[in-house]
Amino acid sequence: MPAFAQYDVRDGVAVITIDNPPVNAIGPGVLEAIEESVERGVADPGVRALVLIGAGATFVAGADINIFRALTTREQALEGTAMMHARFRRIEDASKPAIAAIHGHALGGGLELAMACHYRIAANDARVGQPEVLLGLIPGAGGTQRLPRLCGPVMALDMCTGGQPVAAPKALASGILDRIVDGNRQNLIDAALAFARERAAGGEIRRTRDRADKLADIDAARRACDERRAALEPIAQNPAPYAAINAIEAACMLPFDAGSALERELFADCVLSDASRALVHLFFAEREAAKVAGVSRDTPTLDIGRAAVLGAGRLGGGIARTYVDAGIPVLLKDVSQAALAREMQTIRRSYQSSVLNGTLTPEAVERRMALITPTTALDEFDTVDIVTEALVEDLKVKTSVFADLGCATRAGCLLASTTATFDVDELARASGRPASVIGHHYFRPAYTMPLIEIVRGRGTGPEVVATSLKLVKRLGKVGVVVGHCVDLVANRMLASYVREAYLLLDEGASARQIDRALTRFGMPAGPFAMEDVADIDVARIRQQVRQHGVKRRAATRGAVTEDEIVGRITTALASEGAHVLKEGCASRPGDIDIICCYGFGFPRARGGPMYYAHNQRLTTDD
Ligand code: 3HC
Repeated sequence: MPAFAQYDVRDGVAVITIDNPPVNAIGPGVLEAIEESVERGVADPGVRALVLIGAGATFVAGADINIFRALTTREQALEGTAMMHARFRRIEDASKPAIAAIHGHALGGGLELAMACHYRIAANDARVGQPEVLLGLIPGAGGTQRLPRLCGPVMALDMCTGGQPVAAPKALASGILDRIVDGNRQNLIDAALAFARERAAGGEIRRTRDRADKLADIDAARRACDERRAALEPIAQNPAPYAAINAIEAACMLPFDAGSALERELFADCVLSDASRALVHLFFAEREAAKVAGVSRDTPTLDIGRAAVLGAGRLGGGIARTYVDAGIPVLLKDVSQAALAREMQTIRRSYQSSVLNGTLTPEAVERRMALITPTTALDEFDTVDIVTEALVEDLKVKTSVFADLGCATRAGCLLASTTATFDVDELARASGRPASVIGHHYFRPAYTMPLIEIVRGRGTGPEVVATSLKLVKRLGKVGVVVGHCVDLVANRMLASYVREAYLLLDEGASARQIDRALTRFGMPAGPFAMEDVADIDVARIRQQVRQHGVKRRAATRGAVTEDEIVGRITTALASEGAHVLKEGCASRPGDIDIICCYGFGFPRARGGPMYYAHNQRLTTDD
């Protein structure tokens, strides 16, 4: 049995190091090991306090998500959470102060473990959160009961229904953390040891479950819960946000044990839901997408210190903003001074809304604007690590530009094209440096759309693919490596979606009916209301449908039900996906699911079209 927790006594304080790489997830045996170490520390007369810390780069990223895939019955779910509740309770009952020392992330069950400790100290760049809702779950190990007791119900609602992690300074200000420290993991350990000795000297033990001050205003808590429920109404496929609100409401109204019992019931409902299964599928699909044939984990990557973007149109400007948002300085080049001036204005305006909604200060906007250098020349291109071409879709223009880039940039500089139309191999040949050339297909607006299709040419070097994957993550986006096919995967899938909608129209469904059926299914907009998204040329698809004639599948025009509409469209998507896989443009069905969810808003709670179709087939076969 691996040693999931190491025990070490330093000058009267037991340091318990949780060790389950890569992210110290709470899998089988981990909590047992932690609890045994806590008991050992409590029993040891030479120990006055305990510090729990994660090995490696993080505290604890939560329960092992693989466990949820294996659950098939409600009883199993209830048993699993009962075990976690009981173990956390015993840690909380420890008679010596227990301090969680957090670096990296304390997420889900990781934060729940930290809240079962008596105090929490964190590195100032650490993040804490309850992201379970993103997996269709609620916190199942006391998080909905302890979190509002520390930070109040309003912030707990934000965290449990939104799922976004909170930075350490904010967590300190709201009461989740007791102290934050500068520096690395060693500094954190030193500070945690000192903090532990202080608490031991004062004989203080503060149990979260006994705290009540933040829950005193019941009416305000009830109002906050009602407001959240009202705001959630339109998104019905994922039941987890509703369950989270109910559980937090219970934390405000009921004693800790009764609230905990309700949390476990609600967790069991969620973990067996279709939405949770779908979201867990996407979680792992996203991690799988980072594993690319022929590109091993240890492939060397280039550090991108400076970038250039060619073309000061909407796309080029959006890409430049994406880079500076990630702190990477960028040269924005265009032949037209006027276009550059216009786009710089557009970028500045796009930042104004962030100032207005309070997410950026005017000073931060100035700092970011200063990272963009507009230019009409290639002079400084030998100083950049990547050039992204975002010019008009004209092969002649692009090949000539790639020939210039081959000379103007230094060896090793990545040459990326945003084209969805042309084969990157042609651009690679023109550059004279095929190993450096790759496609980075963005969606508009580039700085908000989460997906980048990474197009691997025949000659693209593995280190260029690996660098692209790392860069995309740094840009805060999701990258999926695809092979060349006309329009690439996202637009091709979206085209099949629109095409099937037109076929349905010709068979008697109305545009309104089709749009309504698909928005009810969870698409952000129906195919007739979404004509101008994700670069797709809907007019061209309409023309194609007309040119080839409508091959009616029904003999006659007639009534089409909403279920049929959803069935037909999702089947069309899955069938197009099967072609994409057969042609080798995508490697895995999961890659297509990610592309459709992040590229054009296929509802995540349905898992993507390939997952959805597979599951529908299984259900029908049953
Ligand atoms: N369980 C199992 N595996 C996990 C995991 C988890 N909770 N979190 C991450 N991993 C695995 C990933 O699958 C990946 O494995 P691989 O290398 O074999 O593909 C590896 O850890 C590294 O993950 P990332 O590539 O995502 O690494 P990053 O450094 O980019 O991100 C992270 C790290 C921020 C921790 C991110 O992995 C993350 O957000 N993880 C999920 C956190 C989460 O959702 N926690 C809640 C779980 S549910 C829960 O706790 C229920 C409880 O209330 C009972």
